[in-house]
Amino acid sequence: MARIKSVADLEKLRTEILARRESERPSITLCSGSACHATGCGPVAAAIEQELKKQGLGDKVDFRRTGCHGFCEQGPIAVIQPEGICYLRVKPEDVPEIVSETIVNGKRVERLLYADPATSEKIAREAEIPFYRHQQRLILGQNREIDPKSLEDYLAVGGFQALSRALFELTPEQVVDEVKRANLRGRGGAGFPTGVKWEFTRRAPGELKYVVVNCDEGDPGAYMDRSLMEGNPYAVIEGLMIGAYAIGASEGYVYVRQEYPLAVSNLEAALAKLEKYGLLGKKILGSGFDFTVRVHRGAGAFICGEETSLIKSLEGLPGEPKPRPPFPAVRGLWNRPTNINNVETWANIPLIINRGAEFFNSIGTEGSKGTKIFSLVGKVNNTGLVEVAMGATLRDIIYKIGGGIPGGKKFKAVQTGGPSGGCIPESLLDTAVDFDELTRAGAMMGSGGMIVMDEDTCLVDLARYFLGFLSDESCGKCTPCREGIRQMLRILTDITRGQGQEDDLERLQELAETTRYASLCALGKTAPNPVLSTLNHFREEYEAHIREKRCPALACRELIAYHIDPEKCRACGACLRQCPAEAIDGGKKRIHVIDQDRCTRCGACLEACPEAFGAVSKLSGQPVPEPLPEEKRCIG
Ligand SMILES: Cc1cc2nc3c(=O)[nH]c(=O)nc-3n(C[C@H](O)[C@H](O)[C@H](O)COP(=O)(O)O)c2cc1C
Ligand code: SF4
Ligand code: SF4
Ligand code: FES
Repeated sequence: MARIKSVADLEKLRTEILARRESERPSITLCSGSACHATGCGPVAAAIEQELKKQGLGDKVDFRRTGCHGFCEQGPIAVIQPEGICYLRVKPEDVPEIVSETIVNGKRVERLLYADPATSEKIAREAEIPFYRHQQRLILGQNREIDPKSLEDYLAVGGFQALSRALFELTPEQVVDEVKRANLRGRGGAGFPTGVKWEFTRRAPGELKYVVVNCDEGDPGAYMDRSLMEGNPYAVIEGLMIGAYAIGASEGYVYVRQEYPLAVSNLEAALAKLEKYGLLGKKILGSGFDFTVRVHRGAGAFICGEETSLIKSLEGLPGEPKPRPPFPAVRGLWNRPTNINNVETWANIPLIINRGAEFFNSIGTEGSKGTKIFSLVGKVNNTGLVEVAMGATLRDIIYKIGGGIPGGKKFKAVQTGGPSGGCIPESLLDTAVDFDELTRAGAMMGSGGMIVMDEDTCLVDLARYFLGFLSDESCGKCTPCREGIRQMLRILTDITRGQGQEDDLERLQELAETTRYASLCALGKTAPNPVLSTLNHFREEYEAHIREKRCPALACRELIAYHIDPEKCRACGACLRQCPAEAIDGGKKRIHVIDQDRCTRCGACLEACPEAFGAVSKLSGQPVPEPLPEEKRCIG
């Protein structure tokens, strides 16, 4: 590839790339995102390469390894084009059949297709699988068409068209205006209007300005930003470049956490390629726009995602938030005007410039436009990354896309917004995902974590878990956050251990309000959310723990006991063999008994007892029945 010095060069190259790709030529796309790596896409890729060579198809079939396709639960995923046949949970030994049957003979390998869990009906085409059918993958969709290390692949899907439009057809003011008219709100959590923020930085006095990509993503369980950065780094960089042009910045930073090695390596490879071909550096595409990007690896502290502490961390200082104002838009990195946006926010920019503010406004709700990517995890059949138009309901996401709750269990709540988000009960499942609606329901959008919980989750324990995370991650600079979270955590821990007091709920409420009011940054200000939302929607669970020493979900270890029903026990010995604490007494034809003092409540006996017997049960809030006297333990 020659250096690209003008729009004409760019378009000539794009035409050449597209001409080289005969549209009917078959291709195999193998997801190689982090989750598929974990499920073994590496050996599958090696098998594909080997098999294509073996069958003499090396130059007749395209093989591409891409970023995350979203349906991580079912990885490794391979998609065969042009038909769009989607094979799930592919193993190396499946590869010869895929090549000879599907590629050569045009036949499907039935066992690798998606099977509808209700009807067992097989679905071959990716687009028809319910998980994908109900999504609108405007941002994530490109992932499966691009090898993240290939600039050609990105150019083939229209890459850098938006940048050239911005540089040659629009003034910086017009770009800001387009983003403002699109009503794009930041995807990093607070939902602040992106165009307005750009305008602040653009108008701030100063020659040198910075633009920054926030790829810290510290929320446990969330991996949207990581998947975009791993799968389509060019789109994020293109968005960043357009923003830099609009704002008047000539230097950019990508702040990415150290634990994301694949994201860092794909990003660095993309940047190196862009520099090599002249799409970064001086006079980009022959315009007057100069721009460079550096990558900064963060050490992986949740607080470093907060923008003022991210700036400190970039400066090489400990990541502690600063009071605002002054806002980063005026005094940010090295006291210069700085605009920070989330990865997904930047990735939306090329779409807005290419398709226009009207198109973007046609998707979503009154107050939240475009799509949003969620990481759907927890007690749901189809876990993975899901992109929906704003306004989709939680019910649609959990049931139509997520396929409902596994094991016939009952839905209990969905937690959105990361560790400082809130829990939404079943009665509010028709809430639309929209910045304002989620807040109204007592939760928040956050960066897009969505954790589904079934009847086995104790919501007091869940609040305790999140407060534990936040207590560890608070930078400790201000007392209301440091102490407020710690005290709330102490009370919640007591409650889950059956040591709650009658006035604990009042004290929790008071602590929550003070912490929210008096903390310096949004970590402390939002930390009470898990407590307040569970108190609001699931108060009776707190009361049962405090008053009856009972955990209704049968989850809090200190409040449950395992018991063997003497009527049901068949003395098979399975539980006794599994019990790691040697707490079960039994023998041939002797009804087994659990010694409650030795029992650690690990639940191994419950799992071990055959379903047909179902003799082990969990009890909470009631005394464990006395064991049978020795002489009555004999059966048969
Ligand atoms: C404790 C804390 C952690 C945060 N972590 C992130 C993060 O990992 N990624 C992110 O984009 N924003 C994060 N934010 C929000 C950022 O401070 C900032 O609002 C965001 O990067 C702005 O980008 P946006 O306007 O595109 O959303 C965090 C905020 C707080 C208070
Ligand atoms: S609110 Fe918490 S995390 Fe934020 S500055 Fe204060 S102590 Fe640090
Ligand atoms: S596994 Fe169940 S049936 Fe078998 S001995 Fe234990 S309690 Fe009894
Ligand atoms: S990593 Fe393969 S589908 Fe998500």
